Amino acid sequence: MAWSIDSIPNQEGRISLITGANSGLGLDTAQALLKKGATVILGCRSLEKAKKTRKKLSRETNSENIDVLEIDLADLNKVNQAADQIIIKYRKLDLLINNAGVMAPPRTVSKQGLELQFAINHLSHMCLTLKLLPLIAEKPRGRIVTVSSGAQYMGKIIWDDLQGKKNYDRWAYYSQSKLANVMFAVELHHKLKRSNIDVFSLSAHPGLARTNLQSTSVKANGSWQEAIAYKLISPIFQSSLMGSLPQLLAATDQNARSGEQYGPQFNFKGQPKLCKIAPPALDRLQREQLWEISTNLIGNYVDISRGKEVLNNKK
Ligand SMILES: NC(=O)c1ccc[n+]([C@@H]2O[C@H](COP(=O)([O-])OP(=O)(O)OC[C@H]3O[C@@H](n4cnc5c(N)ncnc54)[C@H](OP(=O)(O)O)[C@@H]3O)[C@@H](O)[C@H]2O)c1
Repeated sequence: MAWSIDSIPNQEGRISLITGANSGLGLDTAQALLKKGATVILGCRSLEKAKKTRKKLSRETNSENIDVLEIDLADLNKVNQAADQIIIKYRKLDLLINNAGVMAPPRTVSKQGLELQFAINHLSHMCLTLKLLPLIAEKPRGRIVTVSSGAQYMGKIIWDDLQGKKNYDRWAYYSQSKLANVMFAVELHHKLKRSNIDVFSLSAHPGLARTNLQSTSVKANGSWQEAIAYKLISPIFQSSLMGSLPQLLAATDQNARSGEQYGPQFNFKGQPKLCKIAPPALDRLQREQLWEISTNLIGNYVDISRGKEVLNNKK
């Protein structure tokens, strides 16, 4: 039988944090989890949007178990503050979905001067994960799902120009950030396993889904050619709900295993299924190199030592 939101097991008693939960895949993911009884924390860069989303979701799902969290992933200090709020408020966190993202803007930098896609899509999610890991590891069966893209298969890590200072190509740097998502998810899986921690790390990608991602990208670039291209090809995109199924499966299915990746059956659309991991993410040396560079960059601004300790403490 095809996997659908009806396949999601009961989520009562489980607490989930989703970044970018006010739109697209994040919104559909939040709705599906709420319908199954989860408590969902909507991590959004705009508190106003988050509150509107809470109202809408509460109406649609009849659930009051919705919290809001202001988190701007373009600023590591804000990520740090947001994680601290969760740590103070909650005694456990069962599920973290690293979902928010930006696609192919003109070269822009984060508050810390880091290339925006690498910063938002990869570094800030890694920072959030390492800050929250002690809380997630408090209880068994925690899960961390990092949302990637089919762009991972075209991506490479541009080691000699990670920040695109010399030669920025907005699509190459989007692909780099989405490959980094998978490399992070796989390396985290291995580190959790080596430390015998009962937390799963998986990745998922949605194929091509109709969300705000494309229009936001067109707006940032002012490209009428891309606007027309998206209009022409959008009929072949799948719905946002269908696009959210791989991450929902990775987040909830009892047969899904740590280290796996889920995506649509026909690469860009279709039912969710186990899918291939881009080759550089299977290369331990590359993963470890990226992990080290990333933790050093994050560590310049945020204390992630507790998360590192959890991973280094063999149980
Ligand atoms: N749609 C697709 O076809 C597709 C394909 C491959 C991968 N993906 C991945 O799917 C994920 C979700 O994207 P989507 O398609 O659902 O797009 P979307 O509708 O544009 O949602 C992206 C979300 O990320 C949030 N976001 C952007 N910058 C942020 C920041 N600095 N801090 C916090 N949140 C921020 C956005 O907030 P605002 O609403 O405030 O802008 C929005 O909630 C992304 O990681 C994307 O790379 C999507």
